Amino acid sequence: MLIKSAKFSLSSPTVTLCPQSQLPEYAFIGRSNVGKSSLINMLAGTTIAHTSSTPGKTRLINYFLINQEWHLVDLPGYGWAKVRKTERENFGKMIEEYISQRQQLRCLFVLIDIRLEMQAIDRQFMEWLGENDIPFVIIFTKADKLSKAQASEKLATYQLAMLENWEEMPMYFVSSSAKQTGKEEILAYIDTLNQLQ
Ligand code: GTP
Ligand code: MG
Repeated sequence: MLIKSAKFSLSSPTVTLCPQSQLPEYAFIGRSNVGKSSLINMLAGTTIAHTSSTPGKTRLINYFLINQEWHLVDLPGYGWAKVRKTERENFGKMIEEYISQRQQLRCLFVLIDIRLEMQAIDRQFMEWLGENDIPFVIIFTKADKLSKAQASEKLATYQLAMLENWEEMPMYFVSSSAKQTGKEEILAYIDTLNQLQ
């Protein structure tokens, strides 16, 4: 898919203040620092989302309008230890409400750092999605940090861990924002979903 235009639309603290338009949207969720905002920049082909090596950079629901036709949605990360408990609970509530209520959401992408074993917080989050019948697609991030062989090994281990709780491995992509890998595949998938009515 060709990206002709990409621009920031708005930041929202609650699902009720998200755009009223019926444009399809694609949201990115995962632990703080996993690379959500970087992935959005890679897909958009321009730096529209703020990234940082310090976890907790994204704190609102951020909308980016692509080709005047659909939205990329950057969500705050979960599992960030250095915020006050009340703030963490607010983040959790904002994310849960967004995911369970937003009709325009065509696909939720759950980002997982390819280098790590399955983290309890990711497992819990994906279980919550399952319990709430919310389909999701996994994107493994930071693939540039591993060799091809190491990446395959990590993927195989991750699939085994997923199969302890899931009947089958969800659809997944492997990406690197640093090396621009996975971009075409993810955009092609979004394009397919955009065509569905
Ligand atoms: P929060 O907004 O805090 O939840 O984080 P985030 O998930 O949006 O992460 P962000 O995109 O800000 O990236 C976090 C750090 O990881 C930054 O220092 C990025 O440069 C780095 N990073 C992100 N993606 C990649 C990648 O594919 N490869 C490498 N090597 N580094 C990456
Ligand atoms: Mg971010």
